[in-house]
Formats: sequence, C-alpha cells, structure tokens
Amino acid sequence: TDRYCVFGNPIKHSKSPLIHGEFASQTQQAMTYTAELAPVEGFADAWRAFVAHGGRGANVTVPFKSDAFALCDTLSQRAKRAQAVNTLIVGGNGRIYGDTTDGVGLVRDLAYHRVALAGKRVLVLGAGGAVRGILEPLLAENPREVVVANRTADKAEQLAEAFADLGSIQGGGFVSVEGPFDVVINGTSASLSGELPPLPEALFAEGAWAYDMMYGSEPTVFLQWAGPQGAKLLDGLGMLVEQAAESFFLWRNVRPETASVRTLLRQSLN
Ligand code: ATR
Repeated sequence: TDRYCVFGNPIKHSKSPLIHGEFASQTQQAMTYTAELAPVEGFADAWRAFVAHGGRGANVTVPFKSDAFALCDTLSQRAKRAQAVNTLIVGGNGRIYGDTTDGVGLVRDLAYHRVALAGKRVLVLGAGGAVRGILEPLLAENPREVVVANRTADKAEQLAEAFADLGSIQGGGFVSVEGPFDVVINGTSASLSGELPPLPEALFAEGAWAYDMMYGSEPTVFLQWAGPQGAKLLDGLGMLVEQAAESFFLWRNVRPETASVRTLLRQSLN
C-alpha cells in the first residue's frame, strides 16, 4: 500500500486525511493518508524518514511550504513562481518533484460556483505566502485587472512586479483601492484572529462575489462584512477540497469527484 500524508505544525485539526480518505475509497486506490506532525526545525528529516518507510508523496502546510520548496530536485513552473510547495511527489528514480496546487484549487472552486474571472476586475487582499501561491493560476484566467492590496503596501507592490509579465496586475495599500470589483478575495491571515482589513466602502460591483480563503463553522468576519453589502459569499472550504483533488491527481493520475466531499467536509465542521 502506498503511503501519503500531510506535514504541518500544528496538524491535529487537518481535514486532509478525511478528504484524501474519501478520494481514495471513491476511486478505489490502495493507499493510506495520515497527518504527520513535523518539528518546526526538522521538516527535511521528517520527510526523508517518511520516504524511507514507503512514503510516495505528501501535502505540506504551515509552516513548511518554503522548506518543502527548498528540498525538491524538480519544481513546477507555478511552484517556482509561488516560491512554495504544497505537494511533494517521489519520482520513479527517487527524485523529489514539487508542485503547488493552492492556486489551481482556488480557480477550480470559483469555476465550480460559476464565478467568472475572464474580463473581470479582481481585488486580492493580502500579500503573504497564501496570495503569492494563487496569483499565477488567477492571472491565467485572463481577468481584466488584478489589484493586490496589503496592510504593508510595499509587499503588494513587489508582488505585483514579480507577476507583471503574466497579466495586468497592480499593488498598493488598502487606502488606494478603488472599486467596484467583480470578485474580492481575502487572502490575509486577518480572519484567523477575527480581524477585518481596513477596507473602503463601495468595493463590490453589482452581482460581485466575496471569497475568503479561510473557512470555519461560522462565516469569517470578512464575509460577515461583505454580505450586507450585497456580495455573494464563498469561503475557502471548496478551495481546500479542490487543491486536495489536484494533489491526488498528481499522485494517482485519477481525478476524484469533489461534490460529495464538499458536503461531507461542511457537515464535519458542525
Ligand atoms: P500567509 O501564509 O497566510 O499568507 P503571511 O505570509 O504571514 O501568511 O501573510 C499574512 C498576510 O496577512 C499579510 O499580507 C499580512 O499583512 P502584512 O504584510 O501587512 O503583515 C496580512 N495580515 C495579517 N493580519 C492582518 C490584519 N489584522 N489586517 C490586515 N492584514 C493582515
């Protein structure tokens, strides 16, 4: 039986074993998928030990996405851009291949909900690792413009520069943001602490979507703020399922069906 896992610290509350367990039984793959706690300073050792014991691949979450990036022999184009790896694959020759499926996960989830991106104005809040990971797949959908806004304006400007060859992208602080936008994506970690970035009013176009990359049993503060302004709301649960599906596909060459897993995961939150 092929072994897979997710590495993180902390990792106890990870939903990935539930998701991949469902994918595996649905597609009848002989595999196991567990959650593995790695020491903050010991990711590479934990990964090597896992491979030595039959590990064929892994997902990587906070705080190890840069460590995973560093130990790969080969990186996908999108992982190079993101400077992060969330999916490790052991090749036939023992070489380590790294990819990042977070951005594809976001784009697939938006497509699942029939959220159009082509020709649209998209606002992305935040300029950390999570946002860096989604910009290439987002720009590949040909939005009219992507605006990256961040508390620290510099970081958003640098990020926009780093992706400028892929499409129309601007970066700046929150104050300089001018709506209306068709899609507003919260990629800050502010939701975790129940905080709301200082955003201007009139951000949302008619029929706009508000998307939070975080999720929980209750709507995030960002979605609670966006709802009364008429935006249609989505949280990051679907993105989690879709990035998992893409990793699963990379490992097993089978594309699992995600609708039933979305329902199961949503139920598991209550
Ligand atoms: P992640 O991997 O989740 O992206 P990160 O790289 O530490 O984590 O980035 C966190 C992001 O959330 C940053 O854009 C950060 O803004 P700064 O660059 O100005 O620090 C943003 N962030 C965190 N807490 C926030 C808050 N309370 N209000 C607004 N933005 C916040």
